[in-house]
Amino acid sequence: VQQNIHILSDRGAHFIGPGSGVLACKTVGEGRMIEPQEVVDAALSLLNKQSDLAGKKILITSGANHEPIDPVRFIGNRSSGKMGRAIAQEAVLRGAEVTVITGPADVPPPASSNVIEIQTAQEMYDAVMQHLPEADIIIGAAAVSDYRVENPTGHKQKRNGSGLHLDLTENPDIIAAVGAQKRSDQLVIGFAAETNDLIANAQAKLKKKNLDMIVANTVGTPDSGFGSETTDARFIFSNGTIDEHPLMKKTQLAERLMTQIVELLNARAN
Ligand code: C5P
Repeated sequence: VQQNIHILSDRGAHFIGPGSGVLACKTVGEGRMIEPQEVVDAALSLLNKQSDLAGKKILITSGANHEPIDPVRFIGNRSSGKMGRAIAQEAVLRGAEVTVITGPADVPPPASSNVIEIQTAQEMYDAVMQHLPEADIIIGAAAVSDYRVENPTGHKQKRNGSGLHLDLTENPDIIAAVGAQKRSDQLVIGFAAETNDLIANAQAKLKKKNLDMIVANTVGTPDSGFGSETTDARFIFSNGTIDEHPLMKKTQLAERLMTQIVELLNARAN
């Protein structure tokens, strides 16, 4: 049961209950069906939630990139796509029209989003630029590969008894390009996954990439960052404000992120 709860929760299902009290077997404890009214209330609050991003178009980058070395090998990273998926799921639940541009990932984006699959950072850049004009909100949750192999070979490279030297070229910084050309009606949000000097590094990226907000989280620990179900996070804004969020499930963080985005949109509207 616990494993099934885990799977469903990852897919974005919401849970209430069980209630506690006298059970059918006469023992007292957790295991009763929750009261029908509580089920109705919980469903209604979800329905209310669904409307607050209605009419908004959200563009999300997610997952890793594979940069080819030859037809069978690539340079990649450990991104699982779990954060991007959780954000997309939450945005769909709140009524947004969601496009996910995803590189290779362990989990697929939600079926109810418009999914564009790419491999390399350059392909991700091209897809983002194509969909950028119609987007209201752009969220860069992908672990974009900063470098690509300059001259991938068309044939499988053989070992030849000596080392292999690869020349790497910088890829475009996708979210920085989005930040540089964003319209005043567009919100751009990035992520900063850091192993050290988290706040200072994230603040520098927020400024350099002209973002409205950056989500800073620690990587390199078992329960936060790449591949894990949970993450810690700070929401950092250009006015210097920092909101701390303790270690929590990525799905819960996605809920908080969307609530924060709605607040930013409302603040702009007033
Ligand atoms: O890699 P870095 O820490 O600079 O990533 C910060 C943010 O920039 C993330 O939101 C990431 O998705 C984005 N990024 C990007 N293109 C790159 C590198 C990073 O969009 N080439």
